[in-house]
Amino acid sequence: MRIVVLVSGAGSNLQAVIDSVSSGALQVEIAAVGADRPGTGGVQRSADAGIDTFVVNFADYPNRADWNTALTQAVAFYQPDYVVSSGFMRIVGEEFLDSFPNRYLNTHPALLPSFPGAHGVRDALAYGVKVTGCTVMIADAGVDTGPILAQQAVEVLDDDTEDSLHERIKVLERRLLIETLASLAERADHATR
Ligand code: GAR
Repeated sequence: MRIVVLVSGAGSNLQAVIDSVSSGALQVEIAAVGADRPGTGGVQRSADAGIDTFVVNFADYPNRADWNTALTQAVAFYQPDYVVSSGFMRIVGEEFLDSFPNRYLNTHPALLPSFPGAHGVRDALAYGVKVTGCTVMIADAGVDTGPILAQQAVEVLDDDTEDSLHERIKVLERRLLIETLASLAERADHATR
């Protein structure tokens, strides 16, 4: 199973996927890692690991539709079985979703449908929930919407900050993403036998 991973930031979840692939625990091929802006930690980590990288810089395009077309082409070049948003903080358009139907995975640091958006951890803390968590889903045209594949709960501690809570969530989020990819890869393997 070939995947392309999209990142906007540090790429610590991506690093966990890279490590699992390197150790042989996760049997997928990371065909490439792409970002929506230059200078991301995620692209740096991938380059360090010898993985192909590309940047489709949102700021370089006159409008969202043109950026979306360029992103779709850049990802399609690698002919992935799945595309994984790993902290990719942009909504993709119809052209992208139609090119990878039901094959665009996303992770989110909250128990969706609660607290979607760019600040899922901060919003959960501000609301005062006692339990939050992480979600892996098939992404659609909405903000952190789409069919949920897996979720895991995380207890909120009284002295949690956004960072401390996010770090604990990410530990489970990484595991959940890797387990989800492993089960999709296993299914793909069975289908080709
Ligand atoms: C992850 O927690 C991911 O769920 C979140 O960004 C973080 C990326 O961390 N994504 C969203 O909030 C999407 N709405 P990383 O760059 O260190 O892997």
